[in-house]
Amino acid sequence: MLTLYFSGTGNSRYVAELFAEEMGCECLSIEEDADFGALIGAADAVAFVYPIYASRMPRILREFILAHKAALHGKKLVILCTQMGFSGDGARSLADLLDKGTYKVLYAEHLMMPNNINNCFIFPKTSDRRILRLKKAAQRRIRRVWENIKAGVVKKRGFNPFSRFLGLWQAAYLPLMDRVLKNAVHIDDDCTGCGLCVKNCPMRNLSLENGKAAAHGNCTKCYRCINSCPERAIAIYFRKKVHWQYHGVQDKRGNASA
Ligand SMILES: Cc1cc2nc3c(=O)[nH]c(=O)nc-3n(C[C@H](O)[C@H](O)[C@H](O)COP(=O)(O)O)c2cc1C
Ligand code: SF4
Ligand code: SF4
Repeated sequence: MLTLYFSGTGNSRYVAELFAEEMGCECLSIEEDADFGALIGAADAVAFVYPIYASRMPRILREFILAHKAALHGKKLVILCTQMGFSGDGARSLADLLDKGTYKVLYAEHLMMPNNINNCFIFPKTSDRRILRLKKAAQRRIRRVWENIKAGVVKKRGFNPFSRFLGLWQAAYLPLMDRVLKNAVHIDDDCTGCGLCVKNCPMRNLSLENGKAAAHGNCTKCYRCINSCPERAIAIYFRKKVHWQYHGVQDKRGNASA
């Protein structure tokens, strides 16, 4: 078993590390500089952990899966999605990228984690108490996943027709959302040019130009920069400054980078 994950703000990394610890397997971020083709090729089963964005996976992971489709041929899959509330068929959206009959889903699950969207009033900040509760619940859920896999129990959350139906209306506007949000990063005059966002952006979408950060139309909307800029100088879609930032489950005072 190999565990691979993408995490914008730390939730999925937390879940991936819990799972890999239970399974006793290697755990890598897809952002790492590794020969993923060889690693996947050598594994019997691959677990993918990722955040749900409108019932779908982040574009960075979609591109990763398509680039490694050949290596994934014949693999057993475990799919673990993190969400703040509702995912529809988020786990199934990964399997949908692969050709039917070329993979076997051992287990798929959606796990509730804190909200990381910090610029929309519909999605309020998750309280510290709730973050703690969600962390504990994730630990219990991952233990259950591992026990079920060991016992040969197959569970495929998000694969039934009802989840499919619920996910489809969100997925319908995905291409539009991808197009709009690719270019939706704004940097205001408070940017000090510290370079933190440039270093941490998983898409290399940011660079320093004339002492300030600049965006280049390749955002995967992971919300990492907007949650970690010390000056709160980054906005996504809405130009207003954010009132709060989510710093992840690992260390509430630490860096939000995954
Ligand atoms: C652009 C975007 C879209 C999201 N869409 C959903 C969604 O449809 N349903 C949901 O429950 N959570 C949604 N979320 C919340 C994240 O899935 C959730 O907070 C996740 O655990 C973040 O994981 P990460 O910290 O590993 O990036 C969304 C977050 C972002 C940034
Ligand atoms: S993290 Fe904020 S202050 Fe630092 S370079 Fe990026 S936008 Fe500017
Ligand atoms: S610009 Fe910000 S939100 Fe977009 S991919 Fe980079 S770090 Fe993530």
